[in-house]
Amino acid sequence: MGMFDKLIANLRSSKKTIVFTEGNDARILSAASKLLKEELMGVILCGNADEVKKAAADGGFDITGAEIVDPATYPEMDALVAQMAELRRGKMTEDECRAALSKSNYFGTMLVKAGKADALLGGATYSTADTVRPALQIIKTKKGSNLVSSSFILFREKDGVEEKISMGDCAINLGYTDRVDKEGNVVLSAARQLAEVAVETARTAAFFGIDPKVAILSFSTYGSGKGGTVQLSHDAVAEARALDPTLTVDGEFQFDAAVSAEVARTKCPDSKVAGQANTFIFPLIEAGNIGYKIAQRLGGFEAYGPILQGLNAPINDLSRGCTADEVYKMAIITAGMA
Ligand SMILES: CC(C)(COP(=O)(O)OP(=O)(O)OC[C@H]1O[C@@H](n2cnc3c(N)ncnc32)[C@H](O)[C@@H]1OP(=O)(O)O)[C@@H](O)C(=O)NCCC(=O)NCCS
Repeated sequence: MGMFDKLIANLRSSKKTIVFTEGNDARILSAASKLLKEELMGVILCGNADEVKKAAADGGFDITGAEIVDPATYPEMDALVAQMAELRRGKMTEDECRAALSKSNYFGTMLVKAGKADALLGGATYSTADTVRPALQIIKTKKGSNLVSSSFILFREKDGVEEKISMGDCAINLGYTDRVDKEGNVVLSAARQLAEVAVETARTAAFFGIDPKVAILSFSTYGSGKGGTVQLSHDAVAEARALDPTLTVDGEFQFDAAVSAEVARTKCPDSKVAGQANTFIFPLIEAGNIGYKIAQRLGGFEAYGPILQGLNAPINDLSRGCTADEVYKMAIITAGMA
């Protein structure tokens, strides 16, 4: 529980409110009852009040103190529809907004937007896309960010020593391509986007007590390989340094050069990151998603995430296979970031 101590202490003094989109899921109710009992945060559960209460009673979960809100009977629905229609002007009609708000993923997200909650956790039954899309459309990227990405914090304790590393983006961006305007001019290069992922992942890592040494990964080390996304990883290093001159970042590196001092001595002896990286940036979602799961399943790391980065408010996604304990921990992380 080491990495949660500080977050928990902060939450106790700053009482935030989290909204759970799947209010009648047993895992959510179990986590909610624990969060309420420990007085860590206010809890809003989306769903039909009778169904939520029955599910809580069936599971033996005490959810006294939770607010249950049902989109079907929400008294301020008209105002929420109007606010969403304004935000989505030109993209969604009022009728489309009303239909979207009948579902708890959009409804919960609008509760955050309207200031009724500080954070949202969903995805116990919704897919990642259905949890994240409302946030992208309504909460939007924060000032100075061009894209939302995600990272995982991986934690393990071995022989009494705690080890924490970070990996991004393993869950959101399907690829990085240059964004161009109507005339074909590049307005946001792919490398700049990957650099933003690196900077945001380092910030998230720092939030969790990691002193980030960022390696932008590839199948090439300092130009040893060509093709694929090698150039993207290479260019992202310079872009990341330009974006945040205080960042300790280097690459492009193969994973062994990034983590093994021995390999680093041979391949890139002058690097301040090689051999000691703790924050890993993947040029492709496939590599990132597979990579963090290898660390989790074969490396014995506990994986927390995906933690969304670059949004205006903390919204996070659960895995549909999540346990009640994972919901509890992700709620602490999510509200802790508010
Ligand atoms: C995140 C994801 C759902 C977005 O896909 P999408 O909804 O098809 O995206 P669209 O291109 O239709 O864009 C929808 C809106 O989100 C915005 N958006 C999309 N990706 C974004 C990003 N990375 N950052 C910021 N905004 C983004 C778009 O600008 C658009 O906004 P607008 O409607 O106001 O113009 C998609 O990238 C995805 O499925 N990612 C992988 C999720 C996954 O399965 N992960 C593995 C499991 S952990």
